[in-house]
Formats: sequence, C-alpha cells, structure tokens
Amino acid sequence: MFARLAIPNAMRGTARSFSTRAGAASRSSRMPLALAATVAVAGISLYARPSLHLEQIQRPIVGAGSDVSSRPTTIAGTFTTPSERSFIMIKPDGVNRQIVGKILTRFEERGYKLVAIKSVLPSKELAREHYGDLASKPFFGSLIDYITGGTPVIAMVWEGKDVIRQGRNMVGATNPLQALPGSIRGDYAVSVGRNIIHASDGFESATKEIGLWFDEKELASYTPAAWEQVMADN
Ligand code: RTP
Ligand code: MG
Repeated sequence: MFARLAIPNAMRGTARSFSTRAGAASRSSRMPLALAATVAVAGISLYARPSLHLEQIQRPIVGAGSDVSSRPTTIAGTFTTPSERSFIMIKPDGVNRQIVGKILTRFEERGYKLVAIKSVLPSKELAREHYGDLASKPFFGSLIDYITGGTPVIAMVWEGKDVIRQGRNMVGATNPLQALPGSIRGDYAVSVGRNIIHASDGFESATKEIGLWFDEKELASYTPAAWEQVMADN
C-alpha cells in the first residue's frame, strides 16, 4: 500500500476538500470547530504547504540503488520502477483548445498506464496549494486566476517506467518558445502563461500532487494488455 503525505488527520480531510468547488463547500463543514477557530483567529492558511513526510524514504531522492526494496515508495509508486507515477494536468487552455484527446494519445501511445483521470474546476485554495512553490513570483496571481477561470482542468495520474522524467520531456520547456518540436508545448503553444499542460517535476512533487488532487481509492490498479511488453527490461 502506498504511503500518503503525512499530514495531520484534521488537515488531511481539508486537503481532500480541494477536489471540486461543490465538494469543498460540502466537506469544509466537517472541519473541526477548534481548528477553524484557530485558523480564523490566527489568520493563517489551512492550505499552507504541508510538510512532506514520505514515510518510506530513507535517503534523498537523487537516484536509485540496485535494490528495489530500498527505493522510496509513496502514492507515486516506487521510484525508478514501472510502478512510478506522475501527476499530469491539462490546463484550461488545453481544454479550451480541444486537444485533450491528442494529449492523452501521446501518453497512451508511449505505453504509459492511465491510473486516474477527472475534470476539475479547481478552487483558489487548490490552485494555490498546487503552485505553492511559486507564491512569491510576480505572475502567481495571474497564474491562479488563469487556472481557476472557469474552464476545467483535466487531472491525471500516469504510471510506468521513468514516467516522471519522461513526462517532463514529453511536455517540454516551461517557455514554449524554448520547447523542442515534438514536445506538447513545442507543438501546441507559444506563450509561457498558456503552455497547455503541467507535469510533476520530481518524485517528491509527484507524491505531493497526486495526494493533493486524488484520493487513494480513485487510483486504479490494473494491467494493460501490452504492459509486460512495453515495460520489459531484457
Ligand atoms: P508546470 O508546473 O505548470 O508544469 O510548469 P513548469 O514546471 O514547466 O514551470 P514552473 O516554473 O513550475 O511554472 C509554473 C507555471 O507558471 C507559469 N509561469 N509563468 N510569466 C512567467 O514568467 C511564468 N513563469 C512560469 C507557467 O504557466 C508555468 O507552467
Ligand atoms: Mg512546475
């Protein structure tokens, strides 16, 4: 069983309430009163980035040893094995441009496994948490407005060998003008603020992002017909 982010139970329920606007409204009413009062009085955000505690990580995530059992395992699978998972999200402009199918096809044809997919209208809180690392950037406000502008995003989890790094390669450089032809941004975008798609940039961010956007029960476990062929190591 994959480990989840080790955030306190009271906050864990709140983090899941990010999923949709409707969900946030109904589930936030379950927030413990004392916690809600603390938040209101102190003026702190419940959605401050939770500290990551990847329960089975015993060393920095910079590479992998030859012993599979020693590799970190979280909700993002086991790092550097075919069970590795990445959070991929088609942003509102990708949905608006009606190229969702083309993007899904790229990941399917590469051989990756679709573990979860849903259309989400993100709340501001969810968008801010997802892009928490960029909170001090001058474009943060417009980035959040854009992600939460009313067009849905397509949140996905893809699984397979090296999917985190390969996902970044398939997506291409942040600035589409520097993205290679053949990458998604290189083929479909020209503006950094409208670059179509997000992909986790490491095992730790994949763990955080999958846990933020999905409940563990939403993540499917199955074996595609060609899986052994595609993932073979010999
Ligand atoms: P993402 O997280 O969306 O996959 O993008 P990324 O890793 O390639 O780039 P990151 O630095 O994480 O930036 C997140 C998103 O913020 C917008 N951005 N705008 N105006 C700007 O200079 C600027 N820089 C970044 C982009 O939409 C970028 O994807
Ligand atoms: Mg990023």
